[in-house]
Amino acid sequence: QETTPQGTMLMGADIVDVIKGKLVKDQTITVEEGKITYIGKADKAPDGNWDKIDLSGTTLLPGLSDSHVHLTSNADDHGYRSLTITPARSAINGVANAEKTLMAGFTTVRNLGAEGYADIALRDAINDDTVIGPRVLASGPSLGITGGHCDSNLLPFEYQQKSEGVADGPWAVRTKVRQNNKYGVDVIKFCGTGGVLSKGTKLGAQQYTLEEMSALVDEAHLLGLKVAVHAHGIDGIATALKAGVDSVEHSSMITDREIAIANEKGVYLSMDIYVSDYILEEGEAAGILEESLAKERTVGRLQRERFQAAVEAGAKIAFGTDAGVYPHGQNARQFKKMTQWGMTPMQAIQAATIENATLFGIETEIGSIEVGKAADLIAVSANPLKNIEELEDVDFVMKNGKIYKNKLGE
Ligand code: ARG
Repeated sequence: QETTPQGTMLMGADIVDVIKGKLVKDQTITVEEGKITYIGKADKAPDGNWDKIDLSGTTLLPGLSDSHVHLTSNADDHGYRSLTITPARSAINGVANAEKTLMAGFTTVRNLGAEGYADIALRDAINDDTVIGPRVLASGPSLGITGGHCDSNLLPFEYQQKSEGVADGPWAVRTKVRQNNKYGVDVIKFCGTGGVLSKGTKLGAQQYTLEEMSALVDEAHLLGLKVAVHAHGIDGIATALKAGVDSVEHSSMITDREIAIANEKGVYLSMDIYVSDYILEEGEAAGILEESLAKERTVGRLQRERFQAAVEAGAKIAFGTDAGVYPHGQNARQFKKMTQWGMTPMQAIQAATIENATLFGIETEIGSIEVGKAADLIAVSANPLKNIEELEDVDFVMKNGKIYKNKLGE
């Protein structure tokens, strides 16, 4: 009589050990109830009734993660087109984009900014297996000042349009943090400077005073939530670091001084150094306003140079891409940029695995291939430490012990 298998045995892959920073040849892994239970040579592997999968010739990595995505946004709905997207439609977009993201090998993402708590609905629907997608840490609506990057500034005064996360003043900001917490967010996102894709904001201009940022961060930390700040210009970056944020998104104009302060405080820099290519090449067709394209032309290369400076200074770098500005599922394109601008392939992979997991506060659950951690595993057909672009074509995806993709042997 057939007994049901006790789990899955993945055989013969070379494993990227992101903790030790090396490749370990020809390993066998067992997976039971969603967790890794053995890693080692095949002859020492536990006996039993396993579903066996031959991964010989492939390289196995921890599932990738992206610290800055917008699953509920599509890359062709920029500028005035965004006004036609209801929260319900954005949730539907999120379902399609979550699946694309997982199939690209990204088993965990941090979603920074969504209206109508569509990201919370999406996260919960993924968690109860209603739809397919990565693990999601969701922020709900991003907080921001009136008229800032996290507001909606497209329509004239008489429409009285305003984004959900807009709050001015320390107590209003605390109330918004509490509201986001009430509706189930995992992290708080706010805008600390202007941005590229918002109308009428300046990249260099700080948004929120130190008093407001300090109140926001204090309230979030009281509630056990980490804080991610959108910041391009140096005043916003410096003030957000003073206020105690946990990660700085974009960090485009960060100076050596603020890199050193971030290092000292253990703050992660999440620098989206791929997306500029998409904005400048496809942005106009995707509806991006000319004023935004003009801003991007001033910041894309500078951000890459500052990324290189941060890498050289030993900064903590998270792998964050702003997916949703460019099409979902292409997240891995950023690896090549990161290696062109100062990282080794191993460092870039560490950023997208153990470093992100640490930023998310879930490094005991995910981020490396270790016994006891969740079986979030991906395989590629050649060694990505030799050619990082391999990660743009992931052949095998397992999340929580379940196989979602297996193109090997096809
Ligand atoms: N969402 C960001 C903003 O509007 C995108 C910045 C993209 N550009 C870049 N060089 N990273 O500011």
